[in-house]
Amino acid sequence: MFNAMNKPISSWRGLRVWLIGASSGIGAALAQQLLALGAIVTLSARREPALRQLAAAHGQEQAHVLAFDAIEPAAWPQAYQSVCQNMGEPDLVLFCAADYCPERVWEVSAARAGQTLDINLLSAYRAIETILPAMLARGHGGIGLIASVAGYMGLPNASVYGPSKAALINLAEILYSDLHPKGLSVYLINPGFVQTSLTAKNDFTMPALQTPEQAAAAIMRGMAAGDFEIHFPRRFTQTMKLIQLLPYRWRFALFERYLKLS
Ligand SMILES: NC(=O)c1ccc[n+]([C@@H]2O[C@H](COP(=O)([O-])OP(=O)(O)OC[C@H]3O[C@@H](n4cnc5c(N)ncnc54)[C@H](OP(=O)(O)O)[C@@H]3O)[C@@H](O)[C@H]2O)c1
Repeated sequence: MFNAMNKPISSWRGLRVWLIGASSGIGAALAQQLLALGAIVTLSARREPALRQLAAAHGQEQAHVLAFDAIEPAAWPQAYQSVCQNMGEPDLVLFCAADYCPERVWEVSAARAGQTLDINLLSAYRAIETILPAMLARGHGGIGLIASVAGYMGLPNASVYGPSKAALINLAEILYSDLHPKGLSVYLINPGFVQTSLTAKNDFTMPALQTPEQAAAAIMRGMAAGDFEIHFPRRFTQTMKLIQLLPYRWRFALFERYLKLS
């Protein structure tokens, strides 16, 4: 009952990791920590120069760069083939890519919502479709989805981002039910606020704000321990979990009182 939900990771040395969304923020910090601990990492995102800069400090055998646009369905099979050629079949795939546009519901356009859902959600399905057959055949491997506490409940301003992250949380739960019995690990990663280019768009004071390095360290700790949900910082995420449990009328009253929305 209280065993780790995934296989704990005792050493990162030689573990082959494909990190999608590695060019900045949490993904870049994760890449640095994985590489420092001896993992073999393929760094993916669209901005190749940023990926090359990250890889430069490490040997060609350890850090591979594979730039591609994750919303291009045709790019995935090709990308996966390159990953396997360069470092072998990945042991762990971390899906970190996302876009965020703070907007109230009356500012949402369906076209723009589609773009956000395409990278935040549909591309996670593309990743799963691409990597699962080989992982299932091997009966070994792990998948991590970076969702967000913004997926715990409907929060003003996260009009499209929030639903995309709620869907990722739901998807990670389904992945765990389906894949854990087949020997695969599944990680649901729910960060609170982290100081990155994504949250630089927020015009409010972000509570319990962390650095990308702190976020990456929490993710590494959670995966090493074999956790399923990795959420941090706890003082913030636990409060959000409690608010999520409140009856709707209390939750909405709290939002009206404290979020100072106009
Ligand atoms: N910052 C926070 O407070 C926070 C909180 C909760 C969850 N998160 C989640 O953490 C993850 C990392 O976000 P971050 O805060 O570190 O933001 P970030 O610095 O903007 O990182 C986003 C990453 O996604 C990549 N990406 C975006 N569109 C892509 C595409 N079409 N194809 C391939 N890669 C793409 C970006 O690279 P390119 O632009 O080079 O393609 C970048 O590497 C996201 O899933 C985010 O939702 C962040």
